[in-house]
Amino acid sequence: MIDYNFLVQKAQEYAQKSYSPYSNFSVGAALLTSSGKIFGGANIENASYGATVCAERVAMFTAIADGELDFTAIAVVSKNENPCFPCGICRQVFTEFSPSMEVVMLSDGAFKIYKASELLPYAFNLKAVENK
Ligand code: THU
Repeated sequence: MIDYNFLVQKAQEYAQKSYSPYSNFSVGAALLTSSGKIFGGANIENASYGATVCAERVAMFTAIADGELDFTAIAVVSKNENPCFPCGICRQVFTEFSPSMEVVMLSDGAFKIYKASELLPYAFNLKAVENK
């Protein structure tokens, strides 16, 4: 059983670490690996705006660099009341590793949960034959 409350709480803690002086939009993510570990991330912006990395990818890449390749769930929160849906690039990154992982967001205090594959149908892959 995934403890969604705990995962969302961790994401909220990581949102405090956001470096977002340009957008002033803090995002936090907490990623649960299939081995039971949690990795966090916050969005990190840059004066060269395109160098900005989303909270979700910071969490994913930190986990991957630590040897984790299989993920169960990721919670994503922003300072906003609305659910923080991951951007398209992050969805593509989720799909590369764990298309069936759950993406957990908050909407008016309730969880909104989707599979990564639901959020990115027809994801890009290099095996063109599979795209027919
Ligand atoms: N951002 C994330 O961290 N995750 C998302 O899913 C969407 C956007 C960040 C990037 C940027 O620092 C700020 O939110 C505004 O786009």
